[in-house]
Amino acid sequence: MATGLVQWRAAAARRGLKIRELEPAIGVEIMGVDLAAPEDPEITAILRGAVVERTLLLVRGQTHLTPAGYLAFAQRFGSAMDLHTRRDLCLKDHHEIFVVGNVVEEGKAVGAPKVGLNWHTDHYHLECAGLFTFLHAITIPPVAGETRYANGIAAYDALPEATRARIASLKVLHSRARLYRELFPDATEEQCQAEAKLFPDVIHPLVRTHPESGRRGLYLGGEWGSEIMGLPAEESKALFAELLVHMTQPEFVHEHHWQPGDVLMSDNRCSLHRATEWDETQYHRRLHRIILLDEVRPS
Ligand code: SIN
Repeated sequence: MATGLVQWRAAAARRGLKIRELEPAIGVEIMGVDLAAPEDPEITAILRGAVVERTLLLVRGQTHLTPAGYLAFAQRFGSAMDLHTRRDLCLKDHHEIFVVGNVVEEGKAVGAPKVGLNWHTDHYHLECAGLFTFLHAITIPPVAGETRYANGIAAYDALPEATRARIASLKVLHSRARLYRELFPDATEEQCQAEAKLFPDVIHPLVRTHPESGRRGLYLGGEWGSEIMGLPAEESKALFAELLVHMTQPEFVHEHHWQPGDVLMSDNRCSLHRATEWDETQYHRRLHRIILLDEVRPS
């Protein structure tokens, strides 16, 4: 394990930053950080250590963070930026920032209102899949619209030894083409076909080793588009469902209640997350999302 990852708590204390665990199994809040400030490599290392150890990192009070500042912050953690194929749903000046929400400007939807209402790992459909996802809360409804995160490492640790042995070398087949039609029901046939061409099916390990912490964790991909290979169809389905239910039990999950200015950073290498509904007829909800992609394939 890299030294920085085990020492982030001591470094945070030395820098006067406060730490609050969100749940026993997942999540940490770090207080006293300004994400709009020029880069301080030690702070970046603290935040990275925190998200790798705890899977989910919360920094509150970032209402002053501009899209350019937010992007500059995210780029400290990796250089492979996701550029969403729906350019129309990204910020005009920043293709890297995808807008999640039911916001209409000049009569036109500027975001995707229904994104991720099922458990998923971002960009699991790529060979080098999602590394970190950042969400910046801009407008938040007064009730509902929470986001849930589940920790695949804690869930794996809690599996019976026999199950861990059974799943150790299994693989998951994931189809983006199938998923895209479900995610974007308003997409044109042309967009769907372009997506299928762009993103052929991929195969990932069902259990992966986190490259920074060395810990093993479930790597399921999500509720849609994934199936376990090499087993009879019914057995594959049943095992996948069993693992998904196991990983998303409350003891491995944090449900985040948003405040404007929150920034959440999650580690896609060992987590699933999902959005929840809110009353779209009464309230607006807008999050700015950045996804960094991994530069290595999961193993
Ligand atoms: C997402 O999964 O990208 C969106 C999460 C949310 O809207 O809560």
